[in-house]
Amino acid sequence: MPSRRAVLKTAALAAAAGALPNVTSAASMARVTPTDRPLRILILGGTGFTGPFQVAYALARGHQVTLFNRGRRPAPEWAGHVEQLQGDRDTGDLRALEGREWDVCIDNPTTLPAWVRDVGHVLRGRIGHYIFVSSISVYADSGPAGITEDAPLAAYAGVDPLAETQASLAADMAALFGPLKAASEAEARRQFGARVAIVRPGFIVGPRDETDRFTWWPLRVADGGEMLVPGDGRDPVQCIDGRDLGEWIVRLAETRTSGVFNATGPDYRLGTDALVHGLHAVTGGPIRFTHVPADFLAEQGIAFGADLPIWFPADHRFAGFGQVDNRRAIESGLRFRPLATTVSDLLAWHRGLPDDRRRTVRAGMSRARETALLQAWHARAAPSRIDAGTS
Ligand SMILES: NC(=O)c1ccc[n+]([C@@H]2O[C@H](COP(=O)([O-])OP(=O)(O)OC[C@H]3O[C@@H](n4cnc5c(N)ncnc54)[C@H](OP(=O)(O)O)[C@@H]3O)[C@@H](O)[C@H]2O)c1
Repeated sequence: MPSRRAVLKTAALAAAAGALPNVTSAASMARVTPTDRPLRILILGGTGFTGPFQVAYALARGHQVTLFNRGRRPAPEWAGHVEQLQGDRDTGDLRALEGREWDVCIDNPTTLPAWVRDVGHVLRGRIGHYIFVSSISVYADSGPAGITEDAPLAAYAGVDPLAETQASLAADMAALFGPLKAASEAEARRQFGARVAIVRPGFIVGPRDETDRFTWWPLRVADGGEMLVPGDGRDPVQCIDGRDLGEWIVRLAETRTSGVFNATGPDYRLGTDALVHGLHAVTGGPIRFTHVPADFLAEQGIAFGADLPIWFPADHRFAGFGQVDNRRAIESGLRFRPLATTVSDLLAWHRGLPDDRRRTVRAGMSRARETALLQAWHARAAPSRIDAGTS
């Protein structure tokens, strides 16, 4: 039986976990069962998009959490519940970590091998387990279906991966991001040996996602009318709710699981039609879906992944992003909340954004562009249609 003091402490942590706006609700965190084996968890980053979900869940589980970042996004709601250390990995200022020990370190923001090397110099022998958040962009070939964790990785073609900086990465993100994440994974193994878990997420979505890549889809469905659905409706799409990712990463920490994991969802094949109908089940309202073949869209100059975010036709070089093999992560405890929950929470979060931000959707084609494409398609051929709601 846990002591009264332990119960009160856990209740306070659950309340703290639910206190950060737009992260999670106190009610959902209160349902989390506290662990009887609290860990000391160091979270590098922790105040951006996905890190706060790890923090909330770790607190609700009763762990001791330390954050390390530059302090540009203060989290005053967690004062007293989370230790907040400051430093700058760009300049190698890790003094706040020196001489300290943790059971687990979760490294969220890193794409530079030098950041991993520097952390290794300070923390090697002082942490029990290192979890590195990588990306499915590490694969040499993102085209095929069913990419497993053992597929070949993108090779770094520069002179010295350890000499790359945030500035050099930003200057050629498209060419460097995947190879440098892969080189960072290798550096993690060099620094921390076998006690490493490499987590490779696909598109991370849901509340707090400032990219709007997935968000474009429910917003578009909510807008109703005639909606262009690319392809024949069967192309698969994958993404992962940041909360499912964050909570599973904490569970990996608790079980000290090592290995490499593709972290995409869901645990079934989500075709484009299932996606748009799933979104419509949440948004409601009159809508008519019109399939438009990918070849026609390509002819019209559509940029897959940008004009139509997170969606790729079967012959695209990123087609594999919709069908990554995620079985190993699921076997290791990754679980997915229903698409409807992600979408309704995402839309609630989006409604709470400042007006200017809400009106400026940061990804996806405009409604005017879509209308022009539909007109061009109707002029070319009679498309197949699926109706939902009234039109
Ligand atoms: N978004 C996606 O769809 C997606 C897909 C695949 C993989 N990923 C990967 O997922 C990871 C998660 O990113 P996230 O933004 O959610 O992480 P996060 O931990 O939530 O946010 C980034 C954190 O890093 C800190 N930070 C940034 N620069 C720093 C520096 N120079 N020194 C110390 N701390 C610094 C930031 O705080 P300060 O600014 O205060 O320093 C912030 O706390 C990334 O590695 C990303 O590559 C993302």
